[in-house]
Amino acid sequence: MRVSTKLFIYCISILLFVGSISAMLFFGYKTFYIVPDTSKAENYSYHFALVAEETENNYWRLVEKGAKRAAAEKDIYLEYIAPSKADNDQLLKLFDRMIAAKVDGIIVQGIEGERFVDLVHKGVERNIPVITIDTDVPSERKAYVGTDNFYAGQLAGRYIIENTKGEQHVGVIVGRFEAINQQERLAGFKDAIKAHPRIQIAKIKESNITEIGATQATYVMMKQHPEINALLGLSALDGLGMVEGIQQIFPTKDVLITSFDILPETMKLIREGKIDATIAQYPEEMGSMAVDVLIDLQNRDLVDNKIYTKTEIIEKADLQVKPEVAR
Ligand code: BGC
Repeated sequence: MRVSTKLFIYCISILLFVGSISAMLFFGYKTFYIVPDTSKAENYSYHFALVAEETENNYWRLVEKGAKRAAAEKDIYLEYIAPSKADNDQLLKLFDRMIAAKVDGIIVQGIEGERFVDLVHKGVERNIPVITIDTDVPSERKAYVGTDNFYAGQLAGRYIIENTKGEQHVGVIVGRFEAINQQERLAGFKDAIKAHPRIQIAKIKESNITEIGATQATYVMMKQHPEINALLGLSALDGLGMVEGIQQIFPTKDVLITSFDILPETMKLIREGKIDATIAQYPEEMGSMAVDVLIDLQNRDLVDNKIYTKTEIIEKADLQVKPEVAR
């Protein structure tokens, strides 16, 4: 082989070698180097977290909507997180993760048990103000924003007392037995009817905060207790399920139906006369107020730390005069 040919081959090999090393370094860098996503939180004055009961639940989506609106107005980054299906254990893990992430404030649904109380303590110890929303829990939380759940249960009792005559056998559906707000609503309801022996609870069942759960609960309850002539649902999707459940088992029976919340689907059933009344809560308002309270808490503690949002009975007749619920 001629010297010039040898030289040519050497040069090509060196070029190929250098080329492949450069390519390896370049693509290796692209593959393994993850750019930290600091853009979201860094451009904002504060980073707050809203830890909800269940991601896609329409009630919680409204809480999120209100919170995000208030946050956007004040240049705050609001992170919405929740278990995909209601689950206390998952919620506690997400709560803990937000504490570890050192956010500037946490809005969280209150959960029964010591682990929740301990986590609130942990957050507060690290100077992260924690407030409860929708459900309160005695703890070091800085404030509660939401419905007075005992009172809301009393309202439901009052509605049944005032709108019925004679014996009432009430089938009650609760979202989750372990949810404190459901326990409080039930306690409020029992308190209201205790002086009215003609009104008795026939059966209490759980819906798992799903429409299908409420449908099944209604079906089974009405089958086992055909004397039931009033139904009460204590969480947001129970009304829809109760209507469906009756439709399946006693489509022509006259049952007084009292539901909870004013989600659009529930309001439609009120307009159609399929639900008699609902106990309104205002989740969007809860979300926006909670953000305002967290902002306040960045500088000082609050004196009045139980902030109740509006709760009221809504019937078909009210829809003319209350356009805010007649969606
Ligand atoms: C309750 C929430 C619950 C929701 C379920 C509402 O009435 O306040 O705690 O997550 O119903 O759909």
